[in-house]
Amino acid sequence: MTKRMIVGLTGASGSTYALTLMRVLTALDWQVELVMSPTGEKVLTYETGIERAAFPEGVQIHENTNLFSALASGSYRTHGMVVIPCSMNTLGLMATGTGDHLLARAAQVTLKERRPLVVVPREMPYNIIHLENMLRLARAGATIMPASPGFYHRPQEIQDLINHVVGRVLDQFGIEHALFQRWSGL
Ligand SMILES: Cc1cc2nc3c(=O)[nH]c(=O)nc-3n(C[C@H](O)[C@H](O)[C@H](O)COP(=O)(O)O)c2cc1C
Repeated sequence: MTKRMIVGLTGASGSTYALTLMRVLTALDWQVELVMSPTGEKVLTYETGIERAAFPEGVQIHENTNLFSALASGSYRTHGMVVIPCSMNTLGLMATGTGDHLLARAAQVTLKERRPLVVVPREMPYNIIHLENMLRLARAGATIMPASPGFYHRPQEIQDLINHVVGRVLDQFGIEHALFQRWSGL
Protein backbone atom coordinates (compact mmCIF):
# COMPACT_ATOMS: atom_id res chain seq x y z
CA MET A 1 0.00 0.00 0.00
CA THR A 2 1.22 3.48 -0.83
CA LYS A 3 2.60 5.32 2.20
CA ARG A 4 -0.21 7.82 2.49
CA MET A 5 -0.94 10.26 5.32
CA ILE A 6 -3.74 12.79 5.63
CA VAL A 7 -2.66 16.10 7.16
CA GLY A 8 -5.36 18.49 8.37
CA LEU A 9 -4.17 22.05 8.89
CA THR A 10 -6.49 24.40 10.81
CA GLY A 11 -6.49 27.99 12.00
CA ALA A 12 -4.72 27.44 15.32
CA SER A 13 -1.37 29.08 15.81
CA GLY A 14 1.62 26.86 14.95
CA SER A 15 1.17 25.99 11.27
CA THR A 16 4.94 25.66 11.19
CA TYR A 17 4.43 22.25 12.85
CA ALA A 18 2.44 21.13 9.81
CA LEU A 19 5.10 22.45 7.43
CA THR A 20 7.82 20.47 9.20
CA LEU A 21 5.63 17.36 9.26
CA MET A 22 4.97 17.65 5.53
CA ARG A 23 8.66 18.23 4.76
CA VAL A 24 9.74 15.19 6.78
CA LEU A 25 7.04 12.90 5.40
CA THR A 26 7.68 13.81 1.77
CA ALA A 27 11.44 13.41 2.28
CA LEU A 28 10.66 9.89 3.50
CA ASP A 29 8.62 9.26 0.31
CA TRP A 30 5.25 9.52 1.97
CA GLN A 31 2.35 10.89 -0.02
CA VAL A 32 0.82 13.74 1.98
CA GLU A 33 -2.88 14.37 1.42
CA LEU A 34 -3.38 17.88 2.75
CA VAL A 35 -6.66 19.50 3.71
CA MET A 36 -6.59 23.07 5.00
CA SER A 37 -9.41 25.03 6.56
CA PRO A 38 -9.70 28.52 5.04
CA THR A 39 -8.46 30.10 8.27
CA GLY A 40 -5.72 27.49 8.50
CA GLU A 41 -4.34 28.55 5.14
CA LYS A 42 -4.52 32.24 6.11
CA VAL A 43 -2.77 31.69 9.45
CA LEU A 44 -0.11 29.61 7.70
CA THR A 45 0.73 32.45 5.33
CA TYR A 46 0.54 35.02 8.14
CA GLU A 47 2.82 33.09 10.48
CA THR A 48 5.32 31.62 8.03
CA GLY A 49 5.04 33.70 4.85
CA ILE A 50 4.65 30.45 2.94
CA GLU A 51 1.87 29.93 0.41
CA ARG A 52 0.48 26.71 -1.03
CA ALA A 53 2.53 27.07 -4.21
CA ALA A 54 5.69 26.57 -2.12
CA PHE A 55 4.62 23.33 -0.45
CA PRO A 56 7.02 20.39 -0.80
CA GLU A 57 6.66 18.14 -3.83
CA GLY A 58 4.59 15.13 -2.87
CA VAL A 59 1.91 17.17 -1.12
CA GLN A 60 -1.47 16.73 -2.73
CA ILE A 61 -3.96 19.42 -1.75
CA HIS A 62 -7.63 18.55 -1.34
CA GLU A 63 -10.01 21.49 -1.20
CA ASN A 64 -11.91 21.63 2.07
CA THR A 65 -15.16 22.23 0.19
CA ASN A 66 -14.75 19.12 -1.97
CA LEU A 67 -16.74 16.37 -0.30
CA PHE A 68 -16.31 14.32 -3.48
CA SER A 69 -12.61 13.96 -2.63
CA ALA A 70 -11.19 10.47 -2.09
CA LEU A 71 -10.57 11.42 1.55
CA ALA A 72 -14.32 11.50 2.17
CA SER A 73 -14.52 7.72 1.75
CA GLY A 74 -13.20 4.93 3.95
CA SER A 75 -12.57 2.85 0.85
CA TYR A 76 -9.62 5.15 0.05
CA ARG A 77 -6.82 3.61 2.05
CA THR A 78 -4.51 5.75 4.18
CA HIS A 79 -2.26 5.12 7.16
CA GLY A 80 -4.15 7.67 9.20
CA MET A 81 -4.52 11.38 9.78
CA VAL A 82 -2.80 14.12 11.75
CA VAL A 83 -4.67 17.34 12.54
CA ILE A 84 -1.86 19.79 13.17
CA PRO A 85 -2.21 22.39 14.53
CA CYS A 86 -5.77 21.74 15.67
CA SER A 87 -7.99 24.70 16.53
CA MET A 88 -10.61 24.47 19.24
CA ASN A 89 -13.21 24.98 16.54
CA THR A 90 -12.15 21.93 14.54
CA LEU A 91 -11.63 19.99 17.77
CA GLY A 92 -15.29 20.64 18.61
CA LEU A 93 -16.45 19.59 15.16
CA MET A 94 -14.48 16.36 15.30
CA ALA A 95 -15.67 15.59 18.82
CA THR A 96 -19.30 15.90 17.80
CA GLY A 97 -19.02 14.29 14.37
CA THR A 98 -20.27 17.46 12.69
CA GLY A 99 -18.91 19.80 10.03
CA ASP A 100 -19.88 19.68 6.38
CA HIS A 101 -16.39 20.08 5.02
CA LEU A 102 -13.66 17.65 4.05
CA LEU A 103 -11.32 18.06 7.01
CA ALA A 104 -14.01 17.09 9.54
CA ARG A 105 -15.30 14.32 7.28
CA ALA A 106 -11.81 12.84 6.78
CA ALA A 107 -11.36 12.77 10.57
CA GLN A 108 -14.65 10.91 11.02
CA VAL A 109 -13.67 8.47 8.27
CA THR A 110 -10.30 7.87 9.94
CA LEU A 111 -12.01 7.09 13.25
CA LYS A 112 -14.68 4.85 11.79
CA GLU A 113 -12.06 2.86 9.87
CA ARG A 114 -10.11 2.48 13.13
CA ARG A 115 -7.06 4.17 11.62
CA PRO A 116 -4.83 6.37 13.80
CA LEU A 117 -6.13 9.90 14.25
CA VAL A 118 -3.54 12.13 15.91
CA VAL A 119 -4.79 15.51 17.07
CA VAL A 120 -2.32 18.28 17.98
CA PRO A 121 -4.43 20.93 19.73
CA ARG A 122 -3.09 24.40 20.35
CA GLU A 123 -4.77 26.79 22.75
CA MET A 124 -3.94 28.31 26.12
CA PRO A 125 -5.61 27.99 28.54
CA TYR A 126 -8.17 25.30 27.76
CA ASN A 127 -11.73 25.77 28.93
CA ILE A 128 -13.88 22.88 30.12
CA ILE A 129 -15.54 22.52 26.71
CA HIS A 130 -12.11 22.10 25.08
CA LEU A 131 -11.08 19.53 27.68
CA GLU A 132 -14.34 17.61 27.31
CA ASN A 133 -13.97 17.59 23.54
CA MET A 134 -10.47 16.15 23.87
CA LEU A 135 -11.74 13.46 26.24
CA ARG A 136 -14.57 12.60 23.88
CA LEU A 137 -12.19 12.28 20.94
CA ALA A 138 -9.71 10.22 22.94
CA ARG A 139 -12.54 7.87 23.92
CA ALA A 140 -13.43 7.54 20.24
CA GLY A 141 -9.88 6.38 19.52
CA ALA A 142 -7.97 9.56 18.72
CA THR A 143 -4.57 10.33 20.25
CA ILE A 144 -4.38 13.82 21.73
CA MET A 145 -0.87 15.26 21.48
CA PRO A 146 -0.87 18.91 22.57
CA ALA A 147 1.78 21.07 20.95
CA SER A 148 3.88 20.91 24.13
CA PRO A 149 7.52 20.26 23.23
CA GLY A 150 9.82 18.79 25.84
CA PHE A 151 13.12 20.39 26.79
CA TYR A 152 15.08 17.31 27.82
CA HIS A 153 16.76 17.16 24.42
CA ARG A 154 18.23 20.59 25.22
CA PRO A 155 16.87 22.60 22.28
CA GLN A 156 19.09 25.34 20.89
CA GLU A 157 16.71 26.75 18.28
CA ILE A 158 12.97 27.07 17.78
CA GLN A 159 13.20 24.40 15.09
CA ASP A 160 14.46 21.95 17.74
CA LEU A 161 11.19 22.48 19.65
CA ILE A 162 9.13 22.00 16.49
CA ASN A 163 11.09 18.84 15.68
CA HIS A 164 10.33 17.41 19.10
CA VAL A 165 6.57 17.74 18.59
CA VAL A 166 6.69 16.46 15.01
CA GLY A 167 8.99 13.59 15.95
CA ARG A 168 6.63 12.46 18.70
CA VAL A 169 3.77 12.57 16.17
CA LEU A 170 5.79 10.37 13.79
CA ASP A 171 6.44 7.97 16.67
CA GLN A 172 2.71 7.33 16.83
CA PHE A 173 2.88 5.85 13.34
CA GLY A 174 6.13 3.96 13.92
CA ILE A 175 7.90 6.15 11.34
CA GLU A 176 11.68 6.20 11.84
CA HIS A 177 13.26 9.63 12.19
CA ALA A 178 16.17 11.47 13.78
CA LEU A 179 14.39 14.70 14.62
CA PHE A 180 15.62 14.81 18.20
CA GLN A 181 17.89 13.00 20.61
CA ARG A 182 15.84 10.43 22.49
CA TRP A 183 15.93 10.15 26.24
CA SER A 184 17.71 6.93 27.09
CA GLY A 185 18.04 7.30 30.84
CA LEU A 186 20.85 8.55 33.06
C1 LIG B 1 -3.36 34.49 14.01
C2 LIG B 1 -4.42 33.60 14.61
C3 LIG B 1 -4.07 32.68 15.58
C4 LIG B 1 -5.02 31.83 16.14
N1 LIG B 1 -4.62 30.90 17.07
C5 LIG B 1 -5.52 30.04 17.56
C6 LIG B 1 -5.09 28.99 18.43
O1 LIG B 1 -3.91 28.86 18.77
N2 LIG B 1 -6.03 28.08 18.83
C7 LIG B 1 -7.34 28.16 18.43
O2 LIG B 1 -8.11 27.29 18.82
N3 LIG B 1 -7.77 29.16 17.62
C8 LIG B 1 -6.89 30.08 17.17
N4 LIG B 1 -7.31 31.08 16.31
C9 LIG B 1 -8.73 31.19 16.01
C10 LIG B 1 -9.16 30.22 14.92
O3 LIG B 1 -8.50 30.51 13.72
C11 LIG B 1 -10.68 30.36 14.69
O4 LIG B 1 -11.37 29.83 15.81
C12 LIG B 1 -11.18 29.69 13.45
O5 LIG B 1 -12.61 29.71 13.46
C13 LIG B 1 -10.72 28.27 13.32
O6 LIG B 1 -11.30 27.73 12.16
P1 LIG B 1 -10.90 26.30 11.62
O7 LIG B 1 -11.09 25.33 12.73
O8 LIG B 1 -11.87 26.07 10.49
O9 LIG B 1 -9.50 26.37 11.15
C14 LIG B 1 -6.38 31.93 15.75
C15 LIG B 1 -6.73 32.88 14.78
C16 LIG B 1 -5.77 33.71 14.23
C17 LIG B 1 -6.19 34.71 13.18
